[in-house]
Amino acid sequence: MTAAQAVDFEALTTAATEAMHAAYAPYSDYPVGAAALTEDGRIITGCNVENASYGLGLCAECTLIGQLRLTGGGRLRAFTCVNSAGETITPCGRCRQLLAEFAAETLWIKTAAGVTTLQALLPEAFGPADLTAENR
Ligand code: THU
Repeated sequence: MTAAQAVDFEALTTAATEAMHAAYAPYSDYPVGAAALTEDGRIITGCNVENASYGLGLCAECTLIGQLRLTGGGRLRAFTCVNSAGETITPCGRCRQLLAEFAAETLWIKTAAGVTTLQALLPEAFGPADLTAENR
């Protein structure tokens, strides 16, 4: 199943909103929750976790990738993230790269502008294939 229409983005948004309530964002006052659907049908979530040493803060996507690995691994088929105003936001550049490492062939992403793909948000991505022995 790869079609975006087959993805229950409402369920993902609900999960992301719940995760947003676990965020630790005292410095930016901008809690974020993220949720993704794995190829084997799990919904995993993440929230941003900031730090007094500001640059060490973790985006919601970082903790989501940790959850992916902790709950069985696999690849991501669909993703969304929200802020505390209930708005859907688009992953920052660094997080697009994080998602790319674990993306299914097509990773559908719901943004404020609608459903798109990671490929559209991060064209010509650097990835594991660039690190083969022949390329070193
Ligand atoms: N943030 C995320 O968690 N994900 C994004 O894709 C964009 C930004 C967080 C980082 C920081 O804790 C707060 O939002 C404000 O930038």
